[in-house]
Amino acid sequence: MSQSTPVPVRHYLQFTDLTADEYAHVFARAADIKRKFKAYEKYHPLADRTLAMIFEKASTRTRVSFEAGMYQLGGSVVHLTTGDSQLGRSEPIEDSARVISRMTDIVMIRTYGQDKIERFASHSRVPVINGLTNEFHPCQILADIFTYIEHRGSITGKVVAWVGDGNNMANTWLQAAELLGFTVHLSTPSGYEVDQAVAGLRSTDSYKIFKDPEDACRGADLVTTDVWTSMGYEAENEARKKAFADWCVDEAMMQVAQPDALFMHCLPAHRGEEVSAEVIDGPQSVVWDEAENRMHVQKALMEFLLLGKVDCS
Ligand code: CP
Ligand code: NVA
Repeated sequence: MSQSTPVPVRHYLQFTDLTADEYAHVFARAADIKRKFKAYEKYHPLADRTLAMIFEKASTRTRVSFEAGMYQLGGSVVHLTTGDSQLGRSEPIEDSARVISRMTDIVMIRTYGQDKIERFASHSRVPVINGLTNEFHPCQILADIFTYIEHRGSITGKVVAWVGDGNNMANTWLQAAELLGFTVHLSTPSGYEVDQAVAGLRSTDSYKIFKDPEDACRGADLVTTDVWTSMGYEAENEARKKAFADWCVDEAMMQVAQPDALFMHCLPAHRGEEVSAEVIDGPQSVVWDEAENRMHVQKALMEFLLLGKVDCS
């Protein structure tokens, strides 16, 4: 590491890795960091620190938000992919973790199974952040909740409608609901339900299941969805297109939600599949704020993992 750190190593592998109090801190820091960014105010708390980014799947937002964010905090970035590193030539994850974490200060990984990132983290000397696995996408939900708070205030007690696949995004929304005290209305096609054990939930108290996606949206404060076919599941594409045909967030679904309901999508989106163009490009959609906020919340997250609770004042 380029600097010794007084902060014990903490990883961010799933949403439950931070407490509700720590989320309140990170959201407050993200707001301050965003304000500084908009005002062109220099803020370099991570000068001389290096972020290693490892991508085993494609990315636009995660790549740009982490890379730009780390430079803005005064640090630097090393970008690795399976194709251009020994990771793609069977070097054990444990050995890669030992080596990479001796030369850098923090690591972000996008990969397939959650077990891979957990193995990496357990052999890393530095914090490891989940930039998406098959099971979870905690940085995205961090941005989504921050975006909700910016537009509507606290998410506690609210209803989030999830329309679509019981995937990494759905699992992470459910973890967040348990931790931060809101309810998820889940509607997934048959065969694509959330697996409570995979999602790592304590109980069924914070979600309700609906067969009809429109019923899930009824009274919701936020309606959200995701692609029908996530990365790594491309072989199922044709079967999924058939199974998900009725799980398209359209104006009829938004109409039964609260009048001031927001629409979110982690992107990339497929207009005419999981969401209609009228909804994603319509007045209730906050998808561009949501995408931008990835950078602000991840800067706050990296600051927290490396420096602990920096004073907000
Ligand atoms: N939402 C999201 O993670 O986007 P990318 O796949 O482009 O990183
Ligand atoms: N569920 C999607 C999210 C992409 C950001 C996937 O895993 O491909």
